[in-house]
Amino acid sequence: MTMDMTREITLEFVRVTEAAALKAARWMGKGDKNGADKAAVDAMRGMLELVNIRGKIVIGEGEKDEAPMLYIGEHVGGGGIHDPQVDIAVDPLDGTTLTSKGLPGAIAVLAAADAGALMSFPSFYVDKIAVGPAAKGCIDINDSVKNNLKRVAKALDFKMGELTVVILDRPRHKKLIDEVRTAGARVKLISDGDVAGAIACATASSGSNILMGVGGAPEGVLAAAALKCLGGDIQVKIWPRDPAEKKKIIELGFSKKQMETVFSAEDLCHGDSTVFSATGVTGGDFLDAVRYHGDTAVTHSVVMRCKTRTVRYITAVHQTKTKTVPSRSESREVRI
Ligand code: FBP
Repeated sequence: MTMDMTREITLEFVRVTEAAALKAARWMGKGDKNGADKAAVDAMRGMLELVNIRGKIVIGEGEKDEAPMLYIGEHVGGGGIHDPQVDIAVDPLDGTTLTSKGLPGAIAVLAAADAGALMSFPSFYVDKIAVGPAAKGCIDINDSVKNNLKRVAKALDFKMGELTVVILDRPRHKKLIDEVRTAGARVKLISDGDVAGAIACATASSGSNILMGVGGAPEGVLAAAALKCLGGDIQVKIWPRDPAEKKKIIELGFSKKQMETVFSAEDLCHGDSTVFSATGVTGGDFLDAVRYHGDTAVTHSVVMRCKTRTVRYITAVHQTKTKTVPSRSESREVRI
């Protein structure tokens, strides 16, 4: 059975990212990024148990030994023999540091697709370039920064000075930032959260137009899932952190040629079975923060299907006195 035959499951995934965001948001501003991440992971895992799928985590919180839950290869979901087999990519909290510091931009993210549809990388990082639908087909990660910006500006009917490039604020991006500024475009530096950064480029109201630079490899695949649903575009290349990682990747069987391969959105996220869900944790360009007030909590999510490219924004009001989430770590239902 394919995801296509189980359209209704799409909406179930919103409950999963909502739960992760609700639990993570309790840790906002507490200066404890691991606490926030753990809360999101626990809630996401618990909620996945209520979804009628036979799911396998293909992109998660690391290998079994280093991650107690949602590790790569872990089976999730409460489905039986007749329920669909799906691969799942998660980032229960993209923006752990943002959450701990109470800064905007953190989201809870999940993508699901037919088995084998989502690519996983041997490297920690990939180099990325991503745009929204209006600039689809205009990016080439092997071309110069200036040429890419020119083509994107033309596609958007922008002057160069009107173009905003989203880049993670890291020392490794000094040259890239200089090149963007020299070309005349504007730079929006983000301290974390490049999944939201990439999606913002496909969201007209965000004011962001193109994401460039090196970020987490799992985040690249999650961004590809969203951008495919939104009709946008992304290219990535493996980016080894250091010679030791490069050696490891080669030992895993990746040739030097493969290290230079440009992976497209279609490579990262094959076919049209993908569904994507995200819920805002601390609020940002395209999803508002979780707001706790009295006995209620309000969440803002987006859920999309690649097949139809329907994009649903869902605002939910949760009753904090009664709503619970199954918690594996506590072996019981816990309040949100
Ligand atoms: P976490 O919240 O999981 O720490 O990830 C945040 C993030 O900013 C990602 O959005 C991004 O892809 C990655 O970290 C960049 O990695 P680094 O901080 O090592 O440059």
